[in-house]
Amino acid sequence: MTGNVIELKDVWKIYDMDEVKVNALKGLNLKIKNGELLGVLGKSGSGKSTTMNMIGSLDTPTKGHIFLDGIDISTLQESQLAQLRGRKIGFIFQTFNLIPSLTTLQNVMLPMMFQNKPYPERERVAKEILARLDMNHRLDHVPGKLSGGERQRVAIARALVNNPEVILADEPTGNLDSKTGQEVIKILKELNQKDKKTIVIVTHDESLVKICDRVCYLRDGAIIKEFKKGEKIDLDSVR
Ligand SMILES: Nc1ncnc2c1ncn2[C@@H]1O[C@H](COP(=O)(O)OP(=O)(O)OP(=O)(O)O)[C@@H](O)[C@H]1O
Ligand SMILES: [Mg+2]
Repeated sequence: MTGNVIELKDVWKIYDMDEVKVNALKGLNLKIKNGELLGVLGKSGSGKSTTMNMIGSLDTPTKGHIFLDGIDISTLQESQLAQLRGRKIGFIFQTFNLIPSLTTLQNVMLPMMFQNKPYPERERVAKEILARLDMNHRLDHVPGKLSGGERQRVAIARALVNNPEVILADEPTGNLDSKTGQEVIKILKELNQKDKKTIVIVTHDESLVKICDRVCYLRDGAIIKEFKKGEKIDLDSVR
């Protein structure tokens, strides 16, 4: 497939609080190309996580349109959307979001259950991916008995099992020490270059910013600046 995997067209997200309205996104436009490694930067509260939720169709816009492989997702029923999202998108969250009572293997097998894959296939695929991430010695550990870096590798494995086109990662190195963070960066880079995955990363981590093909800078719910690969990212110019 060529062209844009995802397109956000004039997307607004307005949270209706009791007294006030919060404009989290104000007419955001974004096209993400197939195979691109895109970084999203911006101050706290600028709308990065909200943007990720829109890209991943975890949430719906108040106004505007989101296209996934050219399909306007507002035209889909929730059940169709859940299926599409499960197949096409893998999420990596800052806080890992693993299920505490499930083992490494069970956590990683779970998304395949929602795609109605038979048990033997679920187990085989989960073990293959966990082995690739060097986690095959921790299959029976629950998340509470894993290190931070191990938890993040389980979360990455879980994001990969349905072989998604797009991986969304919100601060994937945010809770890791710099050495473990480097390992995660290496994995993400390989997924982009070798496996040709489209990846969108929210990050403050400079070494992660460096591997991006393009960086979008958000302010007050809109993209105010884009940086191409290699271009000096002068944040003073946009702050
Ligand atoms: N469920 C919600 N209800 C009301 N306001 C919200 C909700 N979620 C987010 N907001 C507000 O929308 C704005 C954007 O939030 P968002 O989580 O996208 O920021 P962010 O850029 O991810 O910040 P951070 O770097 O701190 O994670 C913030 O002002 C936030 O307070
Ligand atoms: Mg956030």
